[in-house]
Amino acid sequence: MKFFIDTANLAQIKEANDLGILDGVTTNPTLMAKEGIKGVEAVTNHYKAICELVDGDISAEVVSVDFDSIIEEGKKLHAIHPNIVVKVPMIKEGVKAIKWFTDNGIRTNCTLIFSAGQAILAAKAGATYVSPFIGRIDDTGWDGMELIHQLRNIFDIQQYKTEILAASIRYPNHIIKCAEAGAHVCTCPLDSILGLLKHPLTDSGLAKFLEDAKKFA
Ligand code: G3P
Repeated sequence: MKFFIDTANLAQIKEANDLGILDGVTTNPTLMAKEGIKGVEAVTNHYKAICELVDGDISAEVVSVDFDSIIEEGKKLHAIHPNIVVKVPMIKEGVKAIKWFTDNGIRTNCTLIFSAGQAILAAKAGATYVSPFIGRIDDTGWDGMELIHQLRNIFDIQQYKTEILAASIRYPNHIIKCAEAGAHVCTCPLDSILGLLKHPLTDSGLAKFLEDAKKFA
């Protein structure tokens, strides 16, 4: 399973990248706004900075909702760097745009996926990735992980090339469950990635080893 970080924060992207386990980055308009980035030039420069930090796929989301504007915006995002993947919302115009991008050699990430039907449509249109939002499904009282299992099963049976990019990760166990369910990619906040490092028995075990090491130093 590939690890992406789900943030537009350059310091956090660098910290995850320095761990040596990072395969890419996903952003969205909310995450970009959080960094205080304003205007086309600043947005473009920010994506360039992310692409310079990480050698992997970088999802950049369009904010248009009609076909022509999605295409125009997507072409500009694609032109920023070869690693940019155009993130397109799961709407009718978005599906049409994903097909157009696929036919024109531009890779896409179909976002805001909450059902198998939506994922099937995106895969049929040729999306490089589909992004099911696990945490937001959990928030409604359902089990987001069931969707990951269902998508992996369908994608295997249908032999879709589209990769399942599990998103809306809220805690480390989501990442473990995604690996079990066969997600191809998991995009995570930095604290969920770092949370995988932690176990109290590791801490107490290390403290004991360091204490005992003094006996033969
Ligand atoms: O990037 C999309 C997704 O990961 C959003 O997560 O936490 O806002 O539901 P969240």
